[in-house]
Amino acid sequence: MGLKEDLKALEEEVKKLIETASDIEKLNEIRINYLGKKGKIKSILKMLGKLSPEERKEIGQLANRIKDYLEESIREKTELLKKKALEEELKKNKIDLSLPSHWIESGSSHPVISTLIEISQTFISMGFSVAEGPEVEKEKYNFDMLNIPPDHPARDMQDTFFLNNGDILRTHTSPVQIRTMLRYKPPVAIIAPGRVYRKDADPTHSPMFHQIEGLLVDRDVTFRDLKGILKIFLESIFGQDVKIRFRPSYFPFTEPSAEVDIGCTVCGGKGCRVCKGTGWLEILGCGMVDPEVFKAVDIDPEEYTGFAFGLGIERIAMLKYRITDIRLLFTGDMRFNQQFKGIR
Ligand code: DAH
Repeated sequence: MGLKEDLKALEEEVKKLIETASDIEKLNEIRINYLGKKGKIKSILKMLGKLSPEERKEIGQLANRIKDYLEESIREKTELLKKKALEEELKKNKIDLSLPSHWIESGSSHPVISTLIEISQTFISMGFSVAEGPEVEKEKYNFDMLNIPPDHPARDMQDTFFLNNGDILRTHTSPVQIRTMLRYKPPVAIIAPGRVYRKDADPTHSPMFHQIEGLLVDRDVTFRDLKGILKIFLESIFGQDVKIRFRPSYFPFTEPSAEVDIGCTVCGGKGCRVCKGTGWLEILGCGMVDPEVFKAVDIDPEEYTGFAFGLGIERIAMLKYRITDIRLLFTGDMRFNQQFKGIR
């Protein structure tokens, strides 16, 4: 057999090997054995010297063509095997997008905070600003300057938490009125939401609870302005049909003073346990700022008038969500809290 036939036979042999090679190592082996420096084609080419120039040219060209062809075949097969390997790998680690994902528990606002925000938004929309004051307060701001004299029953040890240094935990948000009027000259229109503290604990009283204070001072402010603002507020919280009544009352820091009731949201006014048979629910205290309070903060009561109001946020939240025991709001019991998911 001549060299030509040897080469052709070799080509067929290698073609088959490449075809059946099932991994990249095998292909490398083939390249080394047949196409490498010490490979079989090289050893055939070494024998070219013994041939005539014509034959040498012919066989040489044939050998190179076969070599190029086989190298290309190996490259193609290598690519193919790599692609297959990748496909296998992707199939093995396939991500199933239809599987349900991990359940992430979402939080939500506490009903007291939802109510606080809702009430605040109503007043903010009417032009009131939000003011703040400290929870550890001076007796002077919490009582004296609000025209609550030292012998007033509200100052009783039974109600107020006293601290060792003589300060107290504020018993209402009304001291923010004083702090605001000391800092800003009228006109002022603020609400002051926040925590307050009283020594009291039963189904409707908690030693810590939240209030919102309101204060508006300007020239020519009248009781009619107070009624209008509170009407808008109560309608926005309890609905347009809410019945409202002003009842004369007494607070040391307002004159005249009133308490505001709404028609019972539970029985609609017929009388039930929640409204204690009266058909009315007490919602807030209010009145015209007492001239004594203006004097304490150096505002001339001849020039300015104003109104103030204060309400308990838990009470509103309890009425809104029909909660019968205030203590439920502060136990942190998730079975209770989770019922308010989705409420604002
Ligand atoms: N501070 C009062 C309380 O805690 C609530 C209150 C009543 C505030 C009348 C006011 C007001 O500003 O005018 O019971």
